[in-house]
Amino acid sequence: MKIEAKRGEVLEEVCDVLVVGLFSGQKNFGGMIAMLDRASDGLISRVIKEEGFVADASKTLLVRTDGRLKAKRVMLVGLGLSDRFTLETVRCAAASAVIVIRQMNVRKLSFTLVSSGKGDVDAHGCSQALTEGALLGAYSFGRYKKEDGKTPKTMMILAHDRQTLRHVQKGIEDGIRTSTAVIFARDLVNTPAQHMRPADLVDAARAIVKGKGRLRVKVYDKSQLERMGAGGILAVAQGSDHQPYLVHLIYRPSGKPKKRVAVVGKAVTFDSGGLSLKPADSMTTMKCDMAGGAAVLGLFNVMNELSPKVEVHGIFAAVENMPSGSAIRPGDVVRIMNKKTIEILNTDAEGRVTLADSLSYAAKLKPDVIVDLATLTGACVVALGEEITGVMSNDPKLAQAILASASVVGEKMWELPLEENYKTLISSDVADYKNIAGKWGGALTAGLLLREFVGDISWAHLDIAGPSFAERQMTPYMRKGATGHGVRTLIQWLKSF
Ligand code: BES
Ligand code: ZN
Ligand code: ZN
Repeated sequence: MKIEAKRGEVLEEVCDVLVVGLFSGQKNFGGMIAMLDRASDGLISRVIKEEGFVADASKTLLVRTDGRLKAKRVMLVGLGLSDRFTLETVRCAAASAVIVIRQMNVRKLSFTLVSSGKGDVDAHGCSQALTEGALLGAYSFGRYKKEDGKTPKTMMILAHDRQTLRHVQKGIEDGIRTSTAVIFARDLVNTPAQHMRPADLVDAARAIVKGKGRLRVKVYDKSQLERMGAGGILAVAQGSDHQPYLVHLIYRPSGKPKKRVAVVGKAVTFDSGGLSLKPADSMTTMKCDMAGGAAVLGLFNVMNELSPKVEVHGIFAAVENMPSGSAIRPGDVVRIMNKKTIEILNTDAEGRVTLADSLSYAAKLKPDVIVDLATLTGACVVALGEEITGVMSNDPKLAQAILASASVVGEKMWELPLEENYKTLISSDVADYKNIAGKWGGALTAGLLLREFVGDISWAHLDIAGPSFAERQMTPYMRKGATGHGVRTLIQWLKSF
């Protein structure tokens, strides 16, 4: 779908569908809708009344105009109450409209800007949110199944004056960029593990940097990992027929970088649990266990255009966790790149073992900040549910910065504590640490183990086990399947430097 800005008036707009937002709980129609209603001899208000349409958030009503307006149809999309109006309302409204429209034969779609009139949502933010909602709402994973709808060819966002037009254009640009990154991550995660092996993630990384001057990639294979002493990555991978890789992407800004940051992802292409095999039902979605790595790749896919002022290192260990005669056993002890040892008591707690190496590698680069994203624990999903990411950090300022960025882009995140008293739970009789820690607070004890591998570098850990893969439709722009959660927060955070 091509999205463009255009200077124009709603009454003059020739299109298949004109989408207009409507707040609920208002006695009189204001502005745009009143204008369309007058021009159509009261058609709009008549249909609203007849259908008993209440403009709750994301509800839609389609009105055929039969020649009374230049637009063939007007689609009203509910925005809910005006005092709860945010950019997230706009994203959901745009996606709801597009979902209905994809079931119709529409080529040319036009959107009007929405605002509650309280200055809460400006033209730039609004058009970015419209773009994101439309593109992410229209997303479907079509690799193995025919597309389940028809996306319009073009989408126009109308601006009434020159200055607004410029803001709208910029908003569309930003929205296309973030959506491209999210969709890139979604496609990687949705691809079954059969076609998304560690080597496929390496290929994806290589394809991203190709022809882009400011991007580079280093790939370490099994024999190099052996030389580096990356015992955690090797241990988790040793039961699989597919060899592990450590991938290191680098972006350098044109000027002197303001900061150097590392973004680390968990990238287990399939998590069977290993010898501590998962029950069948828990395994069905475990192609999603590389969602952290996919978020890193999604980000790097748009890094050149994003061109943040910081140097960014994207790091992930691509491995598959399988049971076999060569698999790591409960009781085995592995040595991580930073020389610390971990006793493996449950081979299903593999993410923290691979991340121990990835984080050690990241820490060696001496960045100012490390942020990791990992589908790390079921316990985090127990604590916060399917839609909220758990944020743990050794630096309250960094945690606040991540939470603030998440809130701007509408990704739900909540801070969890790294409780010092729980440190005893990860101490082992035979090694420096063990990889499981009893029954309670599993997200926290996993976070505490990760912390041991970042030294004194400012670090935040995002446990995305819940939100990375939707087992039901979460919002209109997040249908079942991979969500690309975390990507938009990372982009927003990098922009803030
Ligand atoms: N990949 C899983 C965590 C997960 C669970 C991700 C649900 C997405 C949805 C992780 O490797 C895992 O298996 N963790 C175990 C740890 C336990 C053995 C200490 C868990 O959470 O059950
Ligand atoms: Zn696991
Ligand atoms: Zn896992």
